[in-house]
Amino acid sequence: MCGIVGYIGNREAYPMLIKGLKRLEYRGYDSAGAALINQNGELSVYKTKGKVSDLEAFCQDKDISGSVGIAHTRWATHGEPSSLNAHPHYSESKNLAIIHNGIIENYADLKKKLISDGVHFRSDTDTEVIVQLIEYIQTKKNVDLLTAVRLALHQLIGAYAIALLDKREKNQIIAARKQSPLVIGIGDNEFFLGSDATPIIEYTDKVVYLDDDNVAVMRLGEELKVVNNMNHEMSPEVRTLDMNLGQIEKGGYPHFMLKEIFEQPECLENCMRGRVNVDANKVMLSAVIDYKKQLLNAKRIIIVACGTSWHAGLIGKQIIESFCRIPVEVEYASEFRYRNPVINSGDVIIAVSQSGETADTLAAVKLAKENGAFVFGICNAIGSSIPRATDTGSYIHVGPEIGVASTKAFTGQVTVLVMLALALAKEKGTITDELYASVVKELSGIPEKIKKMLELNDRISELSRTFTYAHNFLYLGRGYNYPVALEGALKLKEISYIHAEGYPAAEMKHGPIALIDSDMPVVVVAPHDEMYKKVLSNIQEIKARRGKIFALVSKGDDTISKIADEVIEMPETLECLEPLIASIPLQLLAYHVAVCKGKDVDQPRNLAKSVTVE
Ligand code: F6R
Repeated sequence: MCGIVGYIGNREAYPMLIKGLKRLEYRGYDSAGAALINQNGELSVYKTKGKVSDLEAFCQDKDISGSVGIAHTRWATHGEPSSLNAHPHYSESKNLAIIHNGIIENYADLKKKLISDGVHFRSDTDTEVIVQLIEYIQTKKNVDLLTAVRLALHQLIGAYAIALLDKREKNQIIAARKQSPLVIGIGDNEFFLGSDATPIIEYTDKVVYLDDDNVAVMRLGEELKVVNNMNHEMSPEVRTLDMNLGQIEKGGYPHFMLKEIFEQPECLENCMRGRVNVDANKVMLSAVIDYKKQLLNAKRIIIVACGTSWHAGLIGKQIIESFCRIPVEVEYASEFRYRNPVINSGDVIIAVSQSGETADTLAAVKLAKENGAFVFGICNAIGSSIPRATDTGSYIHVGPEIGVASTKAFTGQVTVLVMLALALAKEKGTITDELYASVVKELSGIPEKIKKMLELNDRISELSRTFTYAHNFLYLGRGYNYPVALEGALKLKEISYIHAEGYPAAEMKHGPIALIDSDMPVVVVAPHDEMYKKVLSNIQEIKARRGKIFALVSKGDDTISKIADEVIEMPETLECLEPLIASIPLQLLAYHVAVCKGKDVDQPRNLAKSVTVE
């Protein structure tokens, strides 16, 4: 969702702002804009509906000079996507310009009050209320900008990351955050700003992740100053980024999504590095070592997540229950946070999130902590809000995920959940030595098996053409592969815009079978496991109704291959690890169907990578 970029230093700001916005395009947006202060202290705002390239075209004949600037990609919440509603927004006098990520829930009341006091608005956005309020306070109370910002923020209810320019203070950017991410890069007498580190990484690896309710003042020639909302000066921790430029570029692939699908063997190696040791027959997670007591005493585990991360949670539930004999519930974070859930002090909450910024998951974490639960995070983005709000956790270490459709983060999350289940089960003594050893060994071999699946890319690309006609898809799986079916369906719908439903295969008879006819592709995950015979019966039932069957089977299966229209063979593995293999061809299928249909795979319509508003 909305991307924020800022620069203050001695270089020309505009090219860096544009480059930064392009790096943030993956987050999803519908309009873009920039504000610059030139040498004469003139503050200009340029903005337009559409892509960053439209903004560039718009700026071609404009004065884009200046070494202080802020820029934004907007994902509409209040007010339609339009040039008028795009950020930055001026204050009434045009002395100030602001960009904002988040939602101001009480904007209507504040706007009404400001209008009754004679302030004129230009847009429909909640964001304009912030800048008008700051200016109103500045003028009425005759205070400096920092004080006006702090006082204004006290009146806001909601979430925000903001950056602000004042043309009377041409060597300064003020930024603030509450529940929306903001990263400050520290260079040599220059500062960079980003809603994540991707626009910053090529200039500096020294960053400060701003904390909630803090305001940062970046002034040329001065140290970074951070105050809290009571104006107490804070000492922000300067961290070193563990990310390189290659990780956020396409590296020869046509799309980030394909690159990320292909990166999975290496990503899972990284995820397991130093944690899975086959020779020593051991899985070690430092969080489990450090917080053994809290985790082993768990009477119940609740996994909270959204979307793909929720699907990973469903797999985690089965593995943890099976290995550790601890009851696990999996909740949509958005439902959990609002339904007055029973949370006991002996509960462990596991928050799963790629971005570490999902607003609902973050709120669920805070709710769980307020109620005395112990909270464990499984995240990808280092230093993001959820890992900072949890008691402990394990990063999945799969590198930045840029494609909007989550792929490598999903397999990384499942891998961490398997490692967590193994480490806990070993400590609890709830797993046999034989099972433990076989899962440890098999897990370490998963990257090689994924490579085998990736060799089928051309074949899947070819057969995906035969599916582009479809308006609906059904995905079926059982046990560990039921969440794989859900995830396969989600991948297809979000990037190809074909309606798809995932179901536990046995549920087919309870409704979805009515949909099956010769136009209906049904993807069935049918490895040779405990459920094989049951799923085989489902396949016969689909065939009898002339459904088109795309089956994922174990290598050497010659029964289903005679019935199904298309068959993809998977290397055999342990049942609990099947999702790590079966999800790969489904990612590729979704990708190729979307490409065949000419869709924007990396930035599907209406979607945002990091859902920082609820
Ligand atoms: C789907 C997808 C989303 C995310 C969801 C949660 O491909 O990416 O469903 O999984 O928005 O995001 P995180 O994991 O960042 O909390």
